[in-house]
Order: sequence, then structure tokens, then C-alpha cells
Amino acid sequence: MNQTTPLNRKLLVLNGANLHLLGKREPHIYGTTTLQDIIHRLSTTAHQHGIQLDHFQSNHEGDIVDIIGSQGVLADDHDKFDGVIINPAAFTHTSVAIRDSLLASGKPFIEVHLSNIHAREPFRSHSYFSDKAVGVICGLGDMGYDMALAWFLKNLYKTNGVHS
Ligand code: DQA
Repeated sequence: MNQTTPLNRKLLVLNGANLHLLGKREPHIYGTTTLQDIIHRLSTTAHQHGIQLDHFQSNHEGDIVDIIGSQGVLADDHDKFDGVIINPAAFTHTSVAIRDSLLASGKPFIEVHLSNIHAREPFRSHSYFSDKAVGVICGLGDMGYDMALAWFLKNLYKTNGVHS
């Protein structure tokens, strides 16, 4: 499929473990914006551009693998997502399974982290996703999700960017 003319226009936003706690979880690191606020903002922007945005957060690795499979490889063409914005959270540093499911989908994905994972504990510097991601955004707080969406709008959907 030519990625500049997607059949569906659907982005999948995935958030891993503990990100449902955003706003309350270590706000000095992750900020005070809730996940609900972030998703509301992204959905509004995506809809303004005629893009469907599906969101899924889970604390369970296998659930994320299942969602990527069922909305990717296993979905009918008109139901498939055509890109993913993912903050794998702690799974960033552990999950070959989620990496493999994204690769199986064959779709572009952008890796987002609220914090700068390279300026924290050494184990956070390694990501199972970065070498396969279109790009990695980290350390810019929740704005990172908007920037990832802006990339998809401009480069995959060829719209005029995030703001309409
Ligand atoms: C995180 C960074 C990860 O190291 C951590 O496990 C998270 C959140 C971030 O957004 O900064 O849960 O992905």
C-alpha cells in the first residue's frame, strides 16, 4: 500500500504501564497533564484533519501486543491503522514482544517519552524500539505526542500540519 494514500486514515496511540497515572505520577518528571487530557487534545486535532485516532493504554504487555495485531496484520484493510504513536513506558526497556508486533504490522511508528530517558537511570537509555522508529521524541513532556501527530499529518497524510 502506498503510505501517502492510505485506505483508512487511522492512527493508533498506545501507552504502556503506569501512564494511566499521568498527572498524579511523579509530576516533577512526567508533568501534571492527565492522559485523558492528552488524548482529548490529540483526538481533536486528528479529527480536524479527518483522521480517526484510536487510543489504548495498558499495564499488560500482551494486551498491547494483541491490540497491535488485531488492528494491524489481522484487521481488514479498511480497518487497519496506518501509523502508531507509542509511549511503551517501562516496556520500552524490556519488550521484544511489542517491538515484534509493531514490526509485523509493517506500519510506521513514532516513539514518545515524556521524560528524557537518556538523562535518567542508565537502564532507561536502552530502547527496544528506537532503531525501528521513524523518530524518537523524548524529554519534551506531553508536547511530544503533539509533535508525533504533527509528523504523521504532514508526512503521511500530507495535510498542513497540526493546526488547521
Ligand atoms: C517513560 C520513560 C520510561 O522509562 C518509564 O518507564 C515510563 C515513562 C516516559 O514517558 O518518560 O513509564 O516512557
